[in-house]
Parts: sequence; structure tokens; C-alpha cells
Amino acid sequence: MTNLLDMLESESEFLRYMINLGNPGANDQRRYGDSEQVKYVIDRGLDKYSEDFMNFPIDLSTSDNPKEKPLLDIVIEGFNGCLERGEKFRILDLGCGRAEFLLDLYHELEKRYGIEAVKNNLVLVGLSIADLRDNYFSEQKRHSTRDLLATRGIKYLVGDMRHLDQILHEETLNGFDLIFSDMALCYIDPDYMRYNVLKQAYRNLKEGGLIAAHGALILGHGETKYNPFQGKISRDKEFIARHLEQEALKKGSRLQIDIKANNLFLRKESVELSLPMMYSLGGSQLGVVEWAAELRGEILPEINKELSRLLWKVYYTVMHDFLPDNCIAVDYADHSTRTKISEPLINMLFEELNTNINSERQEKHMPAVDTETILRAIRKYTTS
Ligand SMILES: C[S@@+](CC[C@H](N)C(=O)[O-])C[C@H]1O[C@@H](n2cnc3c(N)ncnc32)[C@H](O)[C@@H]1O
Repeated sequence: MTNLLDMLESESEFLRYMINLGNPGANDQRRYGDSEQVKYVIDRGLDKYSEDFMNFPIDLSTSDNPKEKPLLDIVIEGFNGCLERGEKFRILDLGCGRAEFLLDLYHELEKRYGIEAVKNNLVLVGLSIADLRDNYFSEQKRHSTRDLLATRGIKYLVGDMRHLDQILHEETLNGFDLIFSDMALCYIDPDYMRYNVLKQAYRNLKEGGLIAAHGALILGHGETKYNPFQGKISRDKEFIARHLEQEALKKGSRLQIDIKANNLFLRKESVELSLPMMYSLGGSQLGVVEWAAELRGEILPEINKELSRLLWKVYYTVMHDFLPDNCIAVDYADHSTRTKISEPLINMLFEELNTNINSERQEKHMPAVDTETILRAIRKYTTS
């Protein structure tokens, strides 16, 4: 039986319709090498972040990555070793916000080892582009972060992590045992700069040191909002993640990427970090499908914009119960493009959407949509 995918060049091409919608820069793929300069300095200011971090819980006792030990165990192991050797254990939090992670960690280690050990052997440094020290640590404990940090000797640097090398150099800091980042790398613009930040972080790690990042966005957003083919994209992400892990291993590092939460664990074993990272420009969307296709040696043709728009509209209409008859939100179909989609393609599109939309609705505990509704949605955008 012929299906929609047979009419297109490849499954990857089809996926591209779904994830690159509305992103004119999506085809503009580039590779950036080590020589790329840091050109952008921004300060988005406090407002942009406050909502996010207010609601973001950190629980040191659980690991986001089930394959790895909890982060706290790793810290304890490392701290034990440093105590035995009489060395300092150094931790940097990239994008530390109000330094809640560092404060939690301080208290946890102080509880276990006592104040002297923590004072003598622990170095905690936070970096944030917005100075949030005068914000309260939490509603219950109304102390400003500034006081809490000062009394515990935790260093708070205000600066842009895209200039990490320079910032740490000026502060004469390096050789971290752990560089941690929680929901901060995802704010790095432009996309490719995240890799650049990772490389700088890696350079400033001790041999054997670890980068643990949550929300690293190396493989795009965990969820793509209007995307019935999430499962297939996840396959591409998984493929890229495993590829990067192998590449890292060949180059003497250990890397683990958890594609669902976009967690990243990277241990510095020997050499400079150089992985084949690839990002799209001009948007927050990363070219996961293009990247996977390139790794597989597939050549992707140009996107069929009409089909792409149609898919998006139909999907949006049906998934969000904007039924064709009363749908205002998506009713901006471009009449001039309607005839460009052939009848056989429409029929195949229907088959594909019918299966995918209803399985996704089932997953989200939404009632199934009858085939008539899906057909009407398609017709709405394809017949003049
Ligand atoms: C959502 S908050 C997360 C804060 C903290 N990690 C947490 O989980 O509570 C994002 C943080 O990233 C910081 N940030 C964003 N872009 C940054 C940049 N380019 N350089 C340094 N910090 C940055 C912001 O200042 C903010 O503290």
C-alpha cells in the first residue's frame, strides 16, 4: 500500500514539515568551528527569568538521569577525596539565579562534614548574567541571597557565561571538579553558542571533573508544541545523542545525553572538547532532523511549504478542538496555495494524520476525533 511517506523523499523530509514550520531560518544550517568568536553580549534582565526560576525546584537527593548516580553522591565522593588529600573541591554553577543550588549544597555538606571542612575545603562559585542577590531565597526563609552568600563565603559573579574563559581568568579561577547548570544554558543565544559555552566550561574543568547540565538544549526542546510526530523526532534525537557519545568516547571524554530532559553529563578525561555539534541559525529550533539525516548520509530536498502549512493548520485545528466551523484562531489559510496540494496527497495526508492525531489524543487523555472532523479540517484548507 502506498502511503504518504512514499510520496516524499524520505521520512526525514516528512518530519521536517512538522518541526520546521514557521521557521524561515530552518534551512540555514551551518557548522561552527573552534575559531568562532564570541560576538554577542546581552543582558535580558531580571524580568525575563524571574517567572521561570521562581517555580523551579531543585532536589539534590534525586538524579534527573536514572543511569547516573545522584549528583549529591558524586559531590560527596569527590569531596571525601579532597578532604583526604587536603585539597579544595571546586564547584561552579553556570546561570545560578539566586544561588539556591549552591546554598543547598553548602548546607548539605556542612551538615555532613561540619563547618570547618566546608570552610577549608569547599569552593562554591555562581555565575549569573542578572544580579539576583537581593532577591529573597524563598518565601519561607526571608533572607536576601546576598547575606546568605556573604556569610558562607560563596562567590557570586555577575557576567555572561558566553565569556566564561575571560571571566574565570580575571577572577583567577579554574580547575573545577563540578560545573553545574540548571535551566540556564537554554537561554544562550544564538543556538550554537551553547556548544561554545560547553567548550569553555570543559576547559575550566579539572581532569576527571564533571559537567552536569539540566536544560542543556543540545538536542532541541524536550517537547515540540504542535507536533504529532514527536516519537519519530525523538528517534532522531536518540540517534544523534548516541553518535555524540561515541564521538566523545573516541576523543577521550565521557558524555551522556538524556534526550527527554535534555540533561547532559560530560566527564573530562583528557583532550579538548570537540564534537560535531550542528545548530540552525535564526530561531530557537535546532535542526535535529537535518542533523540526523546528515549523519545518516541522507540528502534532504527543499521543504514543500504548502504541504507544511497545511499539516500545521490541520493538526492545530484538530488537536486543539478548534473545529473547522468555529475556528477563528487558525483561519488564515492562504487561498492562493490551496490548489497546489494534489488529491492523492491529501488522501494520504488524511491517513497519516488520522492515525497520529488520535494516538496523540489518546496519550493526552483527550477524546478521539472522528475521521469526518479530520477530513473536514483538511478540506477547509485545501478547497477553495
Ligand atoms: C531560569 S534561571 C535558573 C536559575 C538557577 N539555575 C535555578 O535553577 O534556580 C536562569 C538563569 O540563567 C542566567 N543566565 C541566562 N543567560 C545567561 C548568560 N548568558 N550568562 C550567565 N547567566 C545567564 C540568568 O541570570 C538566571 O540566573
